[in-house]
Amino acid sequence: METITQKRPAVVVAENEVLARTVAAEIANLIQARNAAGLSTVLGLATGKTPILLYQELIRLAQQRTLDFSRVVTFNLDEYYPLESDSPQSYHYFMYKHLFSHIPIAATHTHVPDGTLARADIASYCAEYEQKIRQAGGITIQILGIGENGHIGFNEPGAERESRTRLVTLSDTTRRNAADDFGGETNVPREALTMGIATILEAQKVVLLASGARKARAVQQALAGPVSADVPASYLSLHPNATVYLDPAAASQRR
Ligand code: PGA
Repeated sequence: METITQKRPAVVVAENEVLARTVAAEIANLIQARNAAGLSTVLGLATGKTPILLYQELIRLAQQRTLDFSRVVTFNLDEYYPLESDSPQSYHYFMYKHLFSHIPIAATHTHVPDGTLARADIASYCAEYEQKIRQAGGITIQILGIGENGHIGFNEPGAERESRTRLVTLSDTTRRNAADDFGGETNVPREALTMGIATILEAQKVVLLASGARKARAVQQALAGPVSADVPASYLSLHPNATVYLDPAAASQRR
């Protein structure tokens, strides 16, 4: 019989600017310490409104400290499918706009799942994505947001603990929330590529950021409810080193 140890993530509550500064400093310190030890730093990155402040702060710190990114490698969580990389809604575009174009990182060191693949190539591509993460030494720190439905990456309710990078169907909630970006829900792709729960849980450290009252219920379920596929963020209780950073509104339903 397998014994699963459950340890709730640590929780930090503060204003968004403070959260962004705290997490950005942690990332910058990690990069500096690992550079000094001759180690690479593998960042698992997220998109969406939530991490924008964090990336702004990381850019500021990178410039202030003239951070060396030559040993930094990044892997993004997800991408819509199908979607061209140069589409303004794509996560390739998002990462370039909000982070990669502002820091001295080689394009060959950044990885975002490819939304332009032929369907027949997806399975092998996803296996290769996992392989590349392993070859890079595994994810040092994984940044996550959370969906109103408790998703992490595009691991929607129902995602399994053992899931890996794969093609998934987006939930109605997720597509509705993306409607504005795409000029209407009908334009939102129905599928996406996402790292899996098992991929995320293998990161050495996991950081989840949430802000706003709309996230409060999912946050409460993830932190206080059972570990369940119904609320994929609840799987973070299976991670030995996860911290959840909440603004007061996102923390408002915590009991
Ligand atoms: P958001 O998205 O940061 O735009 O709220 C988070 C998510 O859905 O994971």
